[in-house]
Amino acid sequence: MEKTFESIRRLVEGHNQGHLLAFWEQLDSVGRQGLLGQIAGLDFSQVDDWASNYVKNSSSAILPGDFGPAPCYSLEPPDGDMARKYTEARRLGEELISAGKVACFVVAGGQGTRLGFDGPKGDFPISPVKNKTLFRIFAETIAAVSKRYQAHCPWYVMTSPLNHAETQEVFRSNNYYGLDEGDVFIFQQGTLPNFSFDGKILLADKDAISCSPDGHGGSLKALYKGGAVADMKKRGVEFISYWQVDNSLVNIFDPLFVGLHAIDEAEMSSKALIKAEPREKIGNFCLVDGKVTVIEYSDLPEEFAEKRNPDGSLVFELGSIAIHIINRSFVERLNSEGFSLPLHRAVKKIPHIDAEGRLFEPAEPNGIKLESFVFDALPLASKSIILETKRSEEFAPAKNRTGVDSAESAREMMIARAAAWLESAGVAVPRKQDGSTDCLIEIAPSFALGRDDVKAKAGRVPKIKRGDELYLA
Ligand code: UD1
Repeated sequence: MEKTFESIRRLVEGHNQGHLLAFWEQLDSVGRQGLLGQIAGLDFSQVDDWASNYVKNSSSAILPGDFGPAPCYSLEPPDGDMARKYTEARRLGEELISAGKVACFVVAGGQGTRLGFDGPKGDFPISPVKNKTLFRIFAETIAAVSKRYQAHCPWYVMTSPLNHAETQEVFRSNNYYGLDEGDVFIFQQGTLPNFSFDGKILLADKDAISCSPDGHGGSLKALYKGGAVADMKKRGVEFISYWQVDNSLVNIFDPLFVGLHAIDEAEMSSKALIKAEPREKIGNFCLVDGKVTVIEYSDLPEEFAEKRNPDGSLVFELGSIAIHIINRSFVERLNSEGFSLPLHRAVKKIPHIDAEGRLFEPAEPNGIKLESFVFDALPLASKSIILETKRSEEFAPAKNRTGVDSAESAREMMIARAAAWLESAGVAVPRKQDGSTDCLIEIAPSFALGRDDVKAKAGRVPKIKRGDELYLA
């Protein structure tokens, strides 16, 4: 260990991080081994760059010199040619799903802190009548899709060290929600060290570096390193349908989206919606040097966010809802090329030990966490398409407990979508004077995956009375 210690000491000191070994003399052999392992696991070739370019430099992301709005496939095809393309895309998408070439992948490494929920976010109960959790809704959707297409649809779940064991336990104790355990692949994302404002890596304890999950962009490395990509290859999976764990309305297997992506030979594609207002807190789809790029809401200056076309629509109207199709071969290519995504800094309160080894719990932000974002891989794709979708059909993120993007609003949107599906099938839904439904409705994925399924089963729906709690399965 002495020899390893000497080389590690030289390494950390060479990068101004000598303090990481400050408590070495006080550690027992287990502590020493653990600390050396953690330090050896850090990519020191990058630490100086992180410290000077992302930590000490507080300027936010640099805006590209020249950029414009990104093109997009609209909700409805604008003409006959496009209508034929959409029809063909739907057919191809269904064929690819049936052939088992499409897997699904949820990023679930974050905690439900903003939701005020102590546990993996996917275990948050959300459905309006049965109180099903997000994971259960996704699992039932996957089961319904697998049944419809007579296909194996493997599910990849990315966790982080914050919730990996707990997530595994949630799946185990729920018997994998009825899915085949072999078709659920749970793996962990990587971490990045946390820094003080002066560029020093913080210690969580005398024998432990303070680390945080490396952002959902870390998924592109973790899919590869964690064995998911190899598993996909074995199964013949070519396309990965990606979404975020907080979206209760996501359409996990959308034949149109998969088909358009495949016809256009794209490597990574996205779904977009028209922003509700110029400063809505979602990423903006832009075109930079001919490449689709997302500029985060916080990085798009007001003059661009507010800019309007002559018809009054926003110039940058397309918002990212973090739904993508990613080619398995794209993930393989990036990893074999040793890619890295840009990092984003977040100023946070980070507990750590001080120079005397005492735990310090800051009342104010005291350091920097670094993250990469998956949408920063879009410009690395040889081709990338965007398909517009409708908020009311596909996007209800539960990020906060109440208010905008909350568990409350997500529940309301689940009811509203179910009501709209029923009404379009000719079923009367009681409504209050303000237009909201005067009943609770929940449609299980086993009953319908979309509007057309409801139409086909409308005859089975009982008459809905005011105050009813209707569950269709
Ligand atoms: C994110 C997007 C925003 C998009 C919006 C849609 C960023 C920076 N912004 O915002 O463009 O319009 O969602 O809802 O992402 N996660 C991990 N590991 C991590 C960090 C996050 O798995 O290390 C997962 C979380 O579990 C969650 C998702 O990524 O499912 C999004 O993370 P969150 O921090 O909630 O992103 P937002 O800022 O809400």
